[in-house]
Amino acid sequence: MYEVLAKEKLAPTIKKLTVKAPLIAEKTQPGNFIILRVDEKGERIPLTVADYDREKGSITIIFQEVGYSTKLLGKMEKGDQIRDIVGPLGHHIDMEGYDKVVLLGGGTGTALLYPKVKGFYEMGAEVISITGARTKKLIILEDDLRKFSDKLYIATDDGSYGHHGFVTEILKDVLEEEEDIDLVVAIGPVPMMKAVADMTKEYGIETIVSLNAIMVDGTGMCGACRITVGGETKFTCVDGPAFDAHKVDFAELMNRLNFYTNEEEKIKDNAVKE
Ligand code: FES
Repeated sequence: MYEVLAKEKLAPTIKKLTVKAPLIAEKTQPGNFIILRVDEKGERIPLTVADYDREKGSITIIFQEVGYSTKLLGKMEKGDQIRDIVGPLGHHIDMEGYDKVVLLGGGTGTALLYPKVKGFYEMGAEVISITGARTKKLIILEDDLRKFSDKLYIATDDGSYGHHGFVTEILKDVLEEEEDIDLVVAIGPVPMMKAVADMTKEYGIETIVSLNAIMVDGTGMCGACRITVGGETKFTCVDGPAFDAHKVDFAELMNRLNFYTNEEEKIKDNAVKE
C-alpha cells in the first residue's frame, strides 16, 4: 500500500498527488513512469512521475480526470492508501550533451514535461519552455517551469493568458529567432506532437516526443501499447515512452487511441447505471 502524503488541485480537473514510495523515488529518473491501481478491482493507470524526492522517499503524479479510473484516483485524499504501484518503468531520457533545448507541453502534457525541463536545466542546458492550454485556469506549473527555464512562453487557445493561439505558433517563432537549438521535446495531445514533428523536420532539429499509448501490463507482454517507429513495431512501455518524433507513425497512434476512447465511454456508462 502507498500512502497519499499530499493532494493539490492544479486546475478544475487536474490533480497532483504526492505519494510515499521510497523504492521508486530512489530509482526514478526524468521520463520514467509508473502504473498504479487505486484498489483491488481498479484499472491499471500509467502515469509519468512528475517529480520525486529521494530524501523524503516520495513521488509526485499529476493527472487529468478524463475517465472513470482517473476520477477514482482524483477522489483520494491525504492519508488514503493506493493499492499498488509498479515502477519506475520505461527508459529515462538521456539528457547529456545538449546545450540548448526547447521543451513544449500542451494541457496535462505540461506535467510530463516538467521533470524534463528541470532535468535539462540542472544538467546545465539553456532551456526554453513553452506551455499552453485551452484557457488561463488550465495552465499548470507556471511557477515551477519558470524556476527551471531561461525563457518561458505561455499560450492559451482563447487568449485569456499569454499568446492567443497554439504552442506550435510560439515554437515556429522560436525556431526562426533562436540559433543552435540542439533538441526539441514535445509532450501533449497527439495532433500537437505531430505538428511539432512536421515543423522541426523542416529545420533538421532532433525531436523527441513522449507517447501516451494505452498500457495494460507495462512489461511488453500484452501488446496494448504497440506503435510503429521507423517502420518497426515498438512497445511504448519497454522501448519508450520517448521516441524520435520524426519516425513515429502518428496516424496509427491516433487510430488506436480513438479505439480505446470508445471502450472507456462504455465503462463510464456502465458505472453510471450500477
Ligand atoms: Fe503491454 Fe506495453 S503495456 S506491452
